Amino acid sequence: MKKLLSLSLALLLAFTMTACGDASASEEAGKAGAEEQLVAGMVWYNFGDTFITATRNAVSDAAEGGNIKIDAADSQVDISTQTNNINNLLTKDVDFLTINNINPAGAPEYIAKAKEKDIPVIFVNCDSPSDEDLNSYDKAFHISSAAEQSGYIQGDLASQYWNENPAADRNGNGKMDYIMLVGMQGNYDSKMRTEKSVERVIENGIEVNLIQEALCNWQRAEAQNQVASIIAARRDDIDVIFANNDDMALGAIEALKASGFFADEDSYIPVLGVDATKVGVEAIKEGTLMGSSLNNPVILGSTVYKMIELLSEGKEITTETLGRTVSEDGNHIWLDYVQITAENTEDAEY
Ligand code: BGC
Repeated sequence: MKKLLSLSLALLLAFTMTACGDASASEEAGKAGAEEQLVAGMVWYNFGDTFITATRNAVSDAAEGGNIKIDAADSQVDISTQTNNINNLLTKDVDFLTINNINPAGAPEYIAKAKEKDIPVIFVNCDSPSDEDLNSYDKAFHISSAAEQSGYIQGDLASQYWNENPAADRNGNGKMDYIMLVGMQGNYDSKMRTEKSVERVIENGIEVNLIQEALCNWQRAEAQNQVASIIAARRDDIDVIFANNDDMALGAIEALKASGFFADEDSYIPVLGVDATKVGVEAIKEGTLMGSSLNNPVILGSTVYKMIELLSEGKEITTETLGRTVSEDGNHIWLDYVQITAENTEDAEY
């Protein structure tokens, strides 16, 4: 009896040990599984921005088919929030970091932090870090639209309108009197679009006169308010409105409509945007927004995800692997814009 008891005790012990062993083994397997789940930390300047929302959606769509999880953070247009977001994601040990950077001066520090963690860092839709900074780390990249192109597109469209329409010079002073709606102070896309649009008009042999440059933070409502006050002061002088993006162009159009413009052919003012967002393209079709250039969020978002995927597989980022033009030094990807007017709104579909 005693023998039987000790045998069953031994069996019970053995069973328990095996069970425990299995349990911890499966726990290990679970842990290993969890460890395999790669995470990309993504810091965006503003979740509320139309173009950024479209780009985030494109990243999510691409991520749906892949095996890298996205952990996104909103900097709410604030540099210290951006820095906190970056630090939080690094503390969480993300495997990749992407930054839609609003603090160009901080780029060297962000690269150094990513290097310390030995994870790739990709600067998305923003000013590029300097070559020196990018080259200081072989896992640092930059991907953005070539913003100067969108400025040139605006300049050419405005020049064409001016040359084809003698009535475009509304006050007859021989100069293109324009309003410039600026996205964000110091922002690369804003700087390029503001400079290159007007530079191109001048290159095209047209004299220009700035009525007002208004900083509207990429926002439709701010543009609407600012343009309404400019109309109140300079109604008869406005020949052209350049906006650094479609949202602000649409705000300007609202203000113009509210004060009687766009009622007929004689009350038309050319307004130019950038992005060719869905709502922007609707305005082109309606005949209010004269033109825009497609800043394709699907190409940007899906290319960012593809880069992360390639890096996760230990592959190099090249023109061949990525399917987009990669610079010779291997760390810049510049995406092209497409001019959109009433002639080709179908090219803005994505
Ligand atoms: C887009 C803007 C957007 C900005 C945000 C630009 O490329 O054209 O619409 O507000 O990026 O950084």
